[in-house]
Parts: sequence; structure tokens; C-alpha cells
Amino acid sequence: MNLTDRIVVITGGAGGIGSAMARRFAAEGAAAVVVADLDVAAARAVAEGIGPVAHPVELDVADEEQVRALVADTERRYGRIDLFCANAGVASAGGLEVDDAGWDRLWRVNVLSHVYAARAVLPAMLARGGGYLLHTCSAAGVLTSVGDAPYATTKHAAVGFAEWLSITYRDQGIRISALCPQGVDTPMLSEGLATGHLAARVIAASGPVLTADQVADTVVAGLAEERFLILPHPEVADYARRRAEDPDGWQSGLRKLVRRLRS
Ligand SMILES: NC(=O)c1ccc[n+]([C@@H]2O[C@H](COP(=O)([O-])OP(=O)(O)OC[C@H]3O[C@@H](n4cnc5c(N)ncnc54)[C@H](O)[C@@H]3O)[C@@H](O)[C@H]2O)c1
Repeated sequence: MNLTDRIVVITGGAGGIGSAMARRFAAEGAAAVVVADLDVAAARAVAEGIGPVAHPVELDVADEEQVRALVADTERRYGRIDLFCANAGVASAGGLEVDDAGWDRLWRVNVLSHVYAARAVLPAMLARGGGYLLHTCSAAGVLTSVGDAPYATTKHAAVGFAEWLSITYRDQGIRISALCPQGVDTPMLSEGLATGHLAARVIAASGPVLTADQVADTVVAGLAEERFLILPHPEVADYARRRAEDPDGWQSGLRKLVRRLRS
């Protein structure tokens, strides 16, 4: 898929990766970019920076009614949605001490929101015989997230759901990509690095920290190739291969890295 004349929706569109994709998609010639975010003031600022093709919307992706309304309003306003980017995501920075409410929040934002989006957009896309879903997952979804149990678990679920959608709907013209970056210089990572959190330190030690603009470049290339796994950090493919071939050796290597970071 190229972006020319496309109608695009991006959730978490006011954040680091979401706003970079919004700007880049507009620069590629998208006809409309809906910047949807919990933080509507930030969404407005991003849309204003882009210009008239961008449209800010207040959205909580964890609320299915709001996701349904976003899709219906966008289809009414622009006639269709070509590309829906389920990008909003949150981390917990915790382990077993995270309570059920904390797990529930990550489950809803990182996983169920992708289910809500697919339920809302697929009927019209299937009727038209085409459409594209980009799910921002994470390298944590094909590897792990040391120091953040709900993030590792929900991102694995997000990759699993995207894969299921791809296998189920690809033959009906629906294309799905799972975007799985490792470290990206956005508030999500920089706040963790500022507090010295283990999850952020492991990420920073595992490969380069990319800018959100670099991730947006990889996304445009991945969409053009209609590739399922979009990996802005190519080394993630090697780590995933090592993890599949030798799970015990891979875990042992990670534990060694954690011991080194803690010493
Ligand atoms: N930064 C990284 O290192 C990194 C690495 C891998 C994957 N990711 C993933 O990339 C995606 C974007 O993260 P980012 O790094 O740009 O973080 P970010 O914190 O800069 O942006 C996240 C955006 O999502 C919005 N948001 C949060 N909860 C929401 C909700 N319930 N409804 C609507 N919007 C909501 C926030 O307001 C924010 O604008 C997330 O899914 C994240 O898990 C980030």
C-alpha cells in the first residue's frame, strides 16, 4: 500500500510514534489523517502542525463505543477508511505487584482496543474487498520486556491477534502488519530511562534507540511491501530466531545482561 490519497486513522496519534506516522503519512500524500488520542489537546496540536488534511479526535481506545463512533464518524466524513493504525499503547513498569486494575488497563489498551478496532472497521473493508490494519505491537511481543510483566504479556497477545487476523482475512483483501520496534525515543521510553527503570535500561542496552521519525520511515517501507512483521530494528529478527531455536540459551543471555546492568 502506498499512502497517496488514503484515508488514515491513527490512535495514540498525539504520541511519539503516532504523531511521527501522522506527519509522514500526510507528507506521503494521504487525503486525510485522523489523529485520535486520549490527550485531545496534544492531538489538536499535532493536527494543526500537519495542516488541513489532519483532523483531531478525542478517543479512549479502551472504550469500544468510542472506537465504534470514531470509525462511523470517519466513514461518514470521508467515505471510507483505507488504513487503521491501532497504535495507542501503555506500559506498567511492574511485575507481580501490579494489581488486577493495572493488568486490566494494559489488557484493554494494548490488546482489546485492537479487537474493538477490527470489529469496527472490518465490515466496511470486507464489503469493499480491501483495507489495511497496522497494529503497533512491540519487540516485547516477539521477545519479552524485562521488568514489565503486563507489557510483555499483552504485547505477545497483540502480536498473536494480529497474526490471527492476517491468516483469517488476507485472502479477502485485508492486509495486516504488526509493527514491532525495540527502543524508540518517545516519552514512554525516556521517562523509564530518566528514572533508571530496568525495562528501559535493558531496551537501551539491546540495540539503538531510534527516533519516531525513523520508525515512521520503516512503516512506510513495510506498508509498501505489505509485510506482516515490520521491524524497525533488524536485530530483533535475529533475537527472535535465537529465542525460537534455543529458548534456554536466549533466557540465560538475557539474565546475564540483567545481572550486568544491576551490578
Ligand atoms: N517507545 C518505545 O520504545 C516503543 C517500543 C515498542 C513499541 N512501542 C509502542 O508504540 C506505541 C506508541 O507508543 P509511543 O512510544 O509513541 O508512546 P507515547 O507515550 O509517546 O504515545 C502513546 C500515545 O497513546 C496515547 N494513549 C494512551 N492511552 C490511550 C487510550 N486509552 N486511548 C487513546 N490514546 C491513548 C497517549 O496519550 C499518547 O499520545 C505503543 O503501542 C507502544 O507500546 C513503543
